[in-house]
Amino acid sequence: MKIASIVGARPNFIKLAPLSRELRRRGLDEVIIHTGQHYNYEMDKIFFDDMGIPAPDYHMGIGSGSHGFQTGEMLRKVEGALMAEKPDAVIVFGDTNSTLAGSLAAAKLHIKSAHVEAGLRSFDRRMPEEINRVLVDHCSDLLLCPTRTAVDNLRREGITENVHLTGDVMVDAQKDCERIAQNKSHILEDLVLKPKDYYLATVHRASNTDDPDKLRAITEALKDLKNVVFPCHPRAEKYLREFGLWDDLIRKIEVIKPVGYLDMLLLEKNAKKIITDSGGVQKEAYLLGIACITLREETEWVETVEDGWNVLVGPNREKIVMSARCFEPSHERQDVFGKGDASIKIADLVENISHEKSGGS
Ligand code: UD1
Ligand code: UDP
Repeated sequence: MKIASIVGARPNFIKLAPLSRELRRRGLDEVIIHTGQHYNYEMDKIFFDDMGIPAPDYHMGIGSGSHGFQTGEMLRKVEGALMAEKPDAVIVFGDTNSTLAGSLAAAKLHIKSAHVEAGLRSFDRRMPEEINRVLVDHCSDLLLCPTRTAVDNLRREGITENVHLTGDVMVDAQKDCERIAQNKSHILEDLVLKPKDYYLATVHRASNTDDPDKLRAITEALKDLKNVVFPCHPRAEKYLREFGLWDDLIRKIEVIKPVGYLDMLLLEKNAKKIITDSGGVQKEAYLLGIACITLREETEWVETVEDGWNVLVGPNREKIVMSARCFEPSHERQDVFGKGDASIKIADLVENISHEKSGGS
C-alpha cells in the first residue's frame, strides 16, 4: 500500500514524525511531500534532524505569500506529485495551508484522504486555520480526532461517518522524544537558565502579530515580567521590527531564534509558566504539567482550560502579567489527549481506508 503524507509547516512535521515511523515499521510505502511553506532551517529541517523524519521525496519550495498564492501554488504542485505517485491514500495534518492544499488535491483526484487532528474548532471564522479545518474535515474520508470534543464538533456539523477518536499524535511525539531531549539538549546551560526560574513565551498567531496594538500589549507584558525566554517565530520578528518594538524587547528579555523540538521540550518542561498563542504549545504545557497563559480569547483545546491548567487572557497587558504571576492550576490532569498510541490506531485505520465510505459528510 502506498501512502502520501503531505506536510509543509512546523506543527505538521511534529505530527508526522511518530506516524511516519509507525507506517514504515509496518512496511508500508510512504512518500513524503513537503510544500515548502516553512523553509528556514530552524522552522523546517531541524525537525527532520531532531525527530528522525526521513527526507521528503518531493520538496515544492513554495515558501511564503498571501493565502491565495500560497494555497493555490501548493494545490497545483501537490496535484502533480499525487498524479505521478498514484498513492492509495493521502494523510494531512492539522490546519495549515499545506493541510488544505493537500486535502483538496486528494479529493479532486478521488484519492482517499485521512485528516490527523480532525474536528478541532475555535468557532472564529476570521482565523485562517479555522477555515482550513472546516474545509479539510468536510472533504476527508477518514477523520482522526484527538479528543472527544473534536468528535462532538464534527457531529454538530453533520459529520458522523468515518470519525474515529484516536488520541493525539503529539502525545506520541513527546513520549518518543522526552528522553532523547534530556540527553541531547543543553539549551538550559547555553542560556544559563535555572529550572522553574523563567517564563517561556511564544507568539505567532496572525491576529496577534499583525496588529500593532495587540503586539505592543504583549511585548509590554513580557517586558514587565522580565525573566522571559522567547523563541521568536519569523512572522513575529517581521512585525516586531516593522512596528518598532524589536530593539527594546531584545534588550529586556531573552529573544532567541525558534528552537528545535528537543530544545523546546526542555524549555517547556523547566519553565515556571508558559505564555503562548500556539495550539501545540498549549497542549504540551498541559501534558508536561506546566501552567499556561494563552494569548487568545478562545481555544480549540478546551480541555486544558476546563481542567484548570490553561487560562485565556487575550493580548491584554494587565491580564497577562497578573496571570503569569498569580495563576495556579486547580485540578488533576486527565488523559484527555490519549495515552501515546494514536499513531498505532491511525496506522490501523489508514491501512483499511479503502473500506471507508467516500466523503466526510
Ligand atoms: C503557519 C500556519 C499556522 C501555524 C504556524 C506554525 C497557515 C495559515 N498558518 O502560520 O496555523 O500555527 O504556521 O508555525 O498555514 N516565515 C519565514 N520563514 C519561514 C516561515 C515563515 O521567514 O520558514 C515568515 C514569512 O515572513 C512569512 C511569515 O513568516 O510570510 C508567515 O509564514 P506562513 O507560513 O504564511 O504562516 P505562519 O504564520 O507561519
Ligand atoms: N515549537 C518548537 N520550537 C519553537 C516553537 C515551537 O519546536 O521555537 C514546537 C512546539 O513544541 C510544538 C509546535 O512547535 O510542538 C507547535 O507549533 P506552532 O506553535 O508553530 O504551531 P501551532 O501548534 O500553533 O499550529
